[in-house]
This record gives sequence, structure tokens and C-alpha cells, in this order.
Amino acid sequence: MDPALNPYTPGSGLMPPSLQGRDREIDAFDRLVARAKARHYDRGMILSGLRGVGKTALLNHLRNHAEHHGWYTVRLEAQDSAAGARLNHKQLALGLRTGLRKFSRKYALKQAGENVLSLIEGSSLSVAGVSMSAPQAKSPEDTLIDIEEIVEAISELVKPKGSALAVFVDEMQGLDPDLIAALLVAQHRAGQEGWPFYVIGAGLPNLPSVLAESRSYAERLFLFSTIGPLDQGAARNALDDPAAKMGGHFDPPALDMLVDAADGYPYFLQEFGAAMWEVAPASPFTTADAAAAIETGTTQLDQGFFPSRWDRATPAERRYLRAIADTGEQAPKTASLSISQSASGPFRAALIKKGIVYSPEHGRISFTVPGMAAFIARQPVNDA
Ligand SMILES: Nc1ncnc2c1ncn2[C@@H]1O[C@H](COP(=O)(O)OP(=O)(O)OP(=O)(O)O)[C@@H](O)[C@H]1O
Ligand SMILES: [Mg+2]
Repeated sequence: MDPALNPYTPGSGLMPPSLQGRDREIDAFDRLVARAKARHYDRGMILSGLRGVGKTALLNHLRNHAEHHGWYTVRLEAQDSAAGARLNHKQLALGLRTGLRKFSRKYALKQAGENVLSLIEGSSLSVAGVSMSAPQAKSPEDTLIDIEEIVEAISELVKPKGSALAVFVDEMQGLDPDLIAALLVAQHRAGQEGWPFYVIGAGLPNLPSVLAESRSYAERLFLFSTIGPLDQGAARNALDDPAAKMGGHFDPPALDMLVDAADGYPYFLQEFGAAMWEVAPASPFTTADAAAAIETGTTQLDQGFFPSRWDRATPAERRYLRAIADTGEQAPKTASLSISQSASGPFRAALIKKGIVYSPEHGRISFTVPGMAAFIARQPVNDA
């Protein structure tokens, strides 16, 4: 098929041609927006799931919807590098300023907007972001109070318009503890004061526990949604619809083969769909084309998605990863791994830090990417 017309979007955060299987979250958010118009305010939302399930795409979709309805939105992608805290503060300040500019223009605000701007400029967020060498002039408590003050001021601006302020935080599990605490406190206060303010967060499956560790009431502040693989119907549509729009059609058994191979994971569906478009000489796509596409797609994954994690692990860490894979379980108990628990503690911590594994519950460990165990099984043992 013509590569220029390939409709699939394998990648990170790329809006898929057809956003399938997320009706529950989209409907919940639609309700939030509709209710805000009537000055009824609900909880924020947290979307958590493995790598490549489509959290970023969904978060961006929700943000577009909010913007379309005249909301004041801010987007933040948390960085957990050494300079992360400073960058996150700076990004939030920038996002608040950009959001303010858009909102002020839309509603022709003048003085009220200026007042909020000076509040943002003078806050610890902006101070922390001034330069690499700038000392952390203010404390975590300042951040907390400043954010509350800014949220209150913006709430006064947006409420009369039937609008709301929403901070969309991607990779939220990596946000520095000060900002997590400040956002939770502001969300908590918003509920009590009737401020139209929402944190909409996306992140790895450990995100709910990261939030709960910060503030025990976090579990009551949000609607929590697990973003998982697509069901059969949605996975079929995710492959079928984009092709059909470009004049490509699947023989039903060929479609079944790709759906099975991708196991419902959005990123894999895009990768296999793109490969199908590449290898199929013509439409309709046959089972032979599907077999070739699965081979090409798997090679693609084995060269990019998986090695980007595997290659970052040291030999000792790889032994630990292999021990997890060998159990054949989704979330084995760390005590059940064929590797001494006391010796493996540091590797476990390092792998969690690298974002390759996470602890779904106390004493258990799991991969952050689907299909990692099968990938490890495909690697020669002397590689670990
Ligand atoms: N609902 C969906 N239907 C079909 N494809 C989707 C869907 N959501 C996302 N995708 C596709 O899946 C891939 C992964 O999406 P995205 O980057 O949003 O995942 P993610 O969960 O944010 O991953 P990560 O944890 O690595 O950031 C992209 O190629 C995207 O186009
Ligand atoms: Mg993402």
C-alpha cells in the first residue's frame, strides 16, 4: 500500500486515527464539563496504566475537549530527572501564564487577568524557575500556599463564565513530592470552597499509591480509572476504521490475527497496523499479509520499544528482570523470585527508578510494559 497514506500512528503520545475503547473516561469527563457549566463541581480524574496503553493520547483528548468548552487549561509533563523539580515548577508557571493569556483573550479580561499574572510571576513557581543557579528561594510550604492562592484567584476568574481551571499532568508519578502535595491540597480545598479546579493526572499503575502516600485523603479526591488493553471489538475498530478511511480492507481472519498478536495493547495495534500497511501489496489484506506484518511489527518492537528498557539495565539488573519473567506471573511476589531477596534489593530499587518495573502492591513486582516477559524470553541467556 502507498506508504504516504499509512494511517497508523505507532509512537508516544501520538493521537491515534481512531481513539477506541475510552468511552467511559470520555463520558465521565464530558459530564464534568457539562456540570461545571451549571456550577456543580466534581472530583478530578486519575488515569493509570502500563506503558503504551494510550494514557497520553487520552489525556490530550480530554484537554482538547476542555479547551473547546472554554476552560482554562494547563499541561504539565512531569520530569523526574535531577533538575526535574525546577523544570516542573517552571513548566507549571509557564502553563499557567499561557492559559491565562488564552483565557483573557477569549473573555476580553483586563485588570482581573493582570492581577492573576502578577500572582503567578511573584510565586515560588516562577522563582524556582528563574535560572539553573537560582537558589531555591522558597520552601515547599511556600509552593503549597502559592498554588492554593493562584487556584483561588483563577477560580474567581473562571467561575462566572461557567468554566473551570484544569491542570493536566502526564507522567504524574514522577512529579516532585512538593508539587504533588501542593496540587492535592489545592484540589482538596477546591472541593470545600466550591472552586472550579481539577487535577487530571495520568501515569504508571503506581500513581494512585504515590498520591495516597502524599495525602491519605487523595483516594477520595479523584475518580480513578485504570487504562488497560482494548477489548476485542475496540481493538478491531482501532485497526479497521483507519484503514477503511484510506481504502484498505482486512479479510476478517487477517484482522483476527493482528488483534490476537497485539493482545489489545494500543501501541502494539498501531505498530502491527503500520506494518500491515507496509507489507501488504494490495487490499484486501490477507492472512499471509498478516503473518508478514506480525513478523515485521515484532522485529520493530524488539528493536525499539523493549530494548529501550532492556539496554538500560546492568547485567545484574537483567538477571533480576529475567527472574521476574521466569515466574510467568503478572505480578510475582518478590520473595518468590529465584534470586536472593537481600542481594536484589538495590537492583529492584534501581529498576523502579529507571521505570522498568513497579510495585503494584507491597511485596510484589511487575513490568511497566506489556509483553516484556516474552521479550526477555526471546533474548539469549548469556545476554543477562
Ligand atoms: N484508544 C486508542 N486506540 C488506538 N490507538 C491508541 C489509543 N490510545 C493510544 N493509541 C496509540 O497507542 C500508542 C501509545 O499511546 P500513548 O503514548 O498515549 O500511550 P501511553 O500510555 O501514554 O504510553 P507511555 O506510558 O509510554 O507514555 C500511540 O501510538 C497511540 O497513537
Ligand atoms: Mg504517555
